[in-house]
Amino acid sequence: MDPDRPQVVVVGSCMTDLVSLTPRLPKAGETIHGSKFFIGFGGKGANQCIQASRLGACTAMVCKVGDDSFGNNYIENFKKHNVCTDYVYQTGAAATGAASIIVNAEGQNAIVIVAGANLLLNSEDLTKASAAITGARVMVCQLEISPQVSLEALKMAHKSGVRTIFNPAPAIADLDSSFYTHSDIFCCNESEAEILTGVQVRSPSDAGAAGSVLLARGCHLVLITLGGEGCVIVSKEVPEPKHIATSKVTSVDTTGAGDSFIGALAFFIAHYPQLNIEEMVKRSNHIASVSVQAAGTQTSYPYRKDLPQDIFS
Ligand SMILES: Nc1ncnc2c1ncn2[C@@H]1O[C@H](COP(=O)(O)OP(=O)(O)OP(=O)(O)O)[C@@H](O)[C@H]1O
Ligand SMILES: *[C@@H]1O[C@H](CO)[C@@H](O)[C@H](O)[C@H]1NC(C)=O
Repeated sequence: MDPDRPQVVVVGSCMTDLVSLTPRLPKAGETIHGSKFFIGFGGKGANQCIQASRLGACTAMVCKVGDDSFGNNYIENFKKHNVCTDYVYQTGAAATGAASIIVNAEGQNAIVIVAGANLLLNSEDLTKASAAITGARVMVCQLEISPQVSLEALKMAHKSGVRTIFNPAPAIADLDSSFYTHSDIFCCNESEAEILTGVQVRSPSDAGAAGSVLLARGCHLVLITLGGEGCVIVSKEVPEPKHIATSKVTSVDTTGAGDSFIGALAFFIAHYPQLNIEEMVKRSNHIASVSVQAAGTQTSYPYRKDLPQDIFS
């Protein structure tokens, strides 16, 4: 096996977060002063890829950014994390995806997302990346790019025997049934499970019920994340839903916790395939729980060196 070959390939989004902290949210037509501004790296696809890389996964990102300074900076961010950028395309036809975020003193927010270049990732781009996608151990995708392109990536990977993790975020109610049949692992949070199934998810047992509905649509295994309650696993092999709780922590900022969890899971599947799914989920819960104890999205993701080393045995 080529040690430099990417084992985790993420086909997904990159967004620049432009964050303003203000005493309150402005009304229409109003100008107000904020107390702080900062720029962060985000987008579900890139977040998941960066978390996997920080744990030591050999990763590649397939995405599209603008031919602008945000796009250039994002490519630098990938390179700093040893992510293969051969399939990070740049376009002059749209700007790098951006999320303008206003956060008030109570921590409530108002967000405008302009997906921009993310929506221009297309079939030809996937074809150019096909050797990386079909040669990986795990391929991960979400719904912040064109859903048709996500589905095509899932099909490409699945046909080649690559394990697929699909994160239906942001959720769409009438998701094409092919997404289920091409997902080895279908991983979503409570609200996404609710949108997809109509089952209200308030507890681990509700999650088990929603998970069984999703499983019946054709995926191999369903994971529903439950914030501080951890995660529920529903699989074809074990019909009883299994709740994997996580340890209590004091959360500071849960933004991007779901992406930390998925990035960690992709890392374990690719690099520790001998572990059973329960053990992988336990360890991924732990890694995501570390991420909620620090501020920011990618900035809160732990590196391998910061974690107990028995996680890597
Ligand atoms: N308060 C918490 N304490 C411990 N672990 C947490 C907490 N919140 C989240 N986690 C961990 O992160 C995982 C994902 O969290 P969650 O279900 O909130 O995802 P999400 O809603 O997609 O996240 P996001 O906040 O990015 O939207 C959980 O399964 C758990 O492992
Ligand atoms: C689930 O994820 C979506 C993003 O897809 C987010 O908007 C929503 O708040 C999350 N739900 C929960 C319960 O954390």
